[in-house]
Amino acid sequence: MNDMNPSVDDLTLEQKASLTSGGDAWHLQGIEDKGVGGYMITDGPHGLRKTAGETGALDLNHTVPATCFPPAAGLSSSWNPELIRAVGEAMAEECIQEKVGVILGPAVNIKRNPLGGRCFEYWSEDPYLAGHEAVGIVEGVQSKGVGTSLKHFAVNNQETDRLRISANVSQRALREIYLPAFEYIVKTAQPWTMMCAYNRINGVHSAQNRWLLTDVLRGEWGYRGIVMSDWGADHDRVASLNAGLNLEMPPSYTDDEIVEGVKNGTVSRRQLDDMAQGMIDLSAKARAAMSIDGYRYDADAHHDIARRAADESIVLLKNDDGILPLRRDAHVAVIGEFARTPRYQGGGSSHITPTRTTSFLQALETERLDAQFAPGFTLDDEPQDRRLTDEAVDAARSNDVVLLFMGLPEEAESEGFDRTSLDLPAKQLAVLDAVCAANSHVVVVLSNGSVVSVAPWRDRVSGILESWLLGQAGGSALVDVIFGAVSPSGKLAQSIPMRMQDDPSAMNWPGEEGHVDYGEGVFVGYRYYDTFERDVAYPFGYGLSYATFALSDVAIEATGPVTASVRATITNTSEIAAAQTVELYVAPLQADVARPRHELKGFVKVRLEPGESRHVHFDLDERAFAYWSQLFGDWHVQRGRYRIEVGTSSRDIVADDVVELEGDAKRMPLDAWSTYGQWRKDPVGGRIVERMKAEGEAGRLPRIPENNVGVELFLDSMPINSLTVILGKGGRAATQYLLDEYAAAVSAR
Ligand code: BGC
Repeated sequence: MNDMNPSVDDLTLEQKASLTSGGDAWHLQGIEDKGVGGYMITDGPHGLRKTAGETGALDLNHTVPATCFPPAAGLSSSWNPELIRAVGEAMAEECIQEKVGVILGPAVNIKRNPLGGRCFEYWSEDPYLAGHEAVGIVEGVQSKGVGTSLKHFAVNNQETDRLRISANVSQRALREIYLPAFEYIVKTAQPWTMMCAYNRINGVHSAQNRWLLTDVLRGEWGYRGIVMSDWGADHDRVASLNAGLNLEMPPSYTDDEIVEGVKNGTVSRRQLDDMAQGMIDLSAKARAAMSIDGYRYDADAHHDIARRAADESIVLLKNDDGILPLRRDAHVAVIGEFARTPRYQGGGSSHITPTRTTSFLQALETERLDAQFAPGFTLDDEPQDRRLTDEAVDAARSNDVVLLFMGLPEEAESEGFDRTSLDLPAKQLAVLDAVCAANSHVVVVLSNGSVVSVAPWRDRVSGILESWLLGQAGGSALVDVIFGAVSPSGKLAQSIPMRMQDDPSAMNWPGEEGHVDYGEGVFVGYRYYDTFERDVAYPFGYGLSYATFALSDVAIEATGPVTASVRATITNTSEIAAAQTVELYVAPLQADVARPRHELKGFVKVRLEPGESRHVHFDLDERAFAYWSQLFGDWHVQRGRYRIEVGTSSRDIVADDVVELEGDAKRMPLDAWSTYGQWRKDPVGGRIVERMKAEGEAGRLPRIPENNVGVELFLDSMPINSLTVILGKGGRAATQYLLDEYAAAVSAR
């Protein structure tokens, strides 16, 4: 192969067109004699899924062994970007061994509704958290010379009708909720590739969405990599290429349509050159790593990383009377099939073959811990077997403590469909009833890719560990946490509602007749629950520890018109080494638009020895305070007061203070349709209004009635083109005076 970096100018029209579709389901199209490699690209996102047989085949089930790291459902609860980066580095090493040039992930769509079938693959209901965590995967993988694919761009938040549905979303919700995770990662880490979503956005397929793929992604954010289609998301080669899609996957063998498009003028040569050059550049970036032969990654070391990642993914939701950690010599009943047959990853295109798995029971054995096991229930749909319940009750009765493993079986959640309920399977709940009647010290260990209802039963148990999906080392991680070798440090990346009906998107889920209206706007997850003071079972950002911490010395100051900085000290006030996450929320105290009560704008996880203190520091930039103004078509920081809150969940704010910001001074130009109130409050308009009043007093214009609250209120909301309603005949002259003076003031500037 030619080692020189080829240029698109060296290729024929047909060769350029060939680069814009794959070689097969999992390969780029190479042009060997021109030095363009036909490298493999494959899933993703929580480990490598490479088909074991015929590598071009679309076979999801037979894949080479790879380390199964916790899917995002778990890893997102770690709030630990460095750890996530280590996972990315390890995944890249596996790609190098397997000669995979790009791994298809991370997937950073927002968990709009907990029923979403891919919530297990997605990071959070909060875009700041999703972006600041998943960026670790991109940086980690790419630091080793392997590419990532940031997906699914954009607004893929449900599986129902996913190939066709139009997600109808306001510009503001797009900018504030559905795009920022992509934006942050693009600007910070330049993923080599992005994958567009299947769905349409406001009527336009993502693959054909020039506004998205070109204007926003490349124009506004400065993206330099390529965009590929999701598998089968490109329905019109010419329209997609024109929109900014570099690569159709898998190929539909229609490159001749592109050639024809150039010949008949529906595709410009320049656009094809740009798209093809992107593919050449991608191949050039991957070449060094793909030229390494005989590389072998260290499977044991990667298993250890998976274990560490799993340790930090577990969230302790409830721990009455310090029931956890258990003593090593406690008499423990372990009930639930999940303890023997762990549910550790989700279904669909991300499903991988682990290098090994450790169940909880195996991990107990390795650690020489005794327990009495009863499966309690089967993971299929068969009715409950009475004997399994009896056996579980016996085990519960004859031990001091019960660890009850409950969760969603594999069939209950996967890519490809959405769930219809948050409830755990009825037979598991029946076992819970029976076990709680037999023993009052029950700790539930949950395995699920997205939220399940806990409110109906949580008062009957002493402890709850939300262990999400923990990857292949999950059993060991649970032993680490349950027996206290590791203090739990996970924090919820999604709220756990009381009931499904409480979810702000419930009214518009999952849409109808080909569209789904995102009527809740920016009020997604805790942005809704906290603003409208709705009870939740457990709030966003929540998670207990075995240790105790104190936050002190919180100091907040404005550092510029639209920026601020925050300092605080966090101390471990216990005898237990542990990690705690300091969360920072910004709450605008007044705004011209409806804003969430507060939003996450910073977090840092610190590990502290007993008694140790650490200073933490946050620099808040413009975006920490801005909202997307539809009026300006831009971000806007209003002048005013902002409360900055520091705490350990969205509802456990420990300290707060208010900063006064000058704002970004953006102002809309005034015109005849601006209200009298807008004129009055505008610095330029306000002076003109004062002069107009003086003219009125002098008898040269109609007089504005003073000290008449009713009239003032009425006037304030009135566009100035309607002043005659209040001022009578002279109203037109008043309007004209305002407009003329304003024009003069603006042209004088
Ligand atoms: C999924 C993508 C995945 C691709 C390739 C699609 O169905 O939506 O996430 O990367 O298949 O397996």
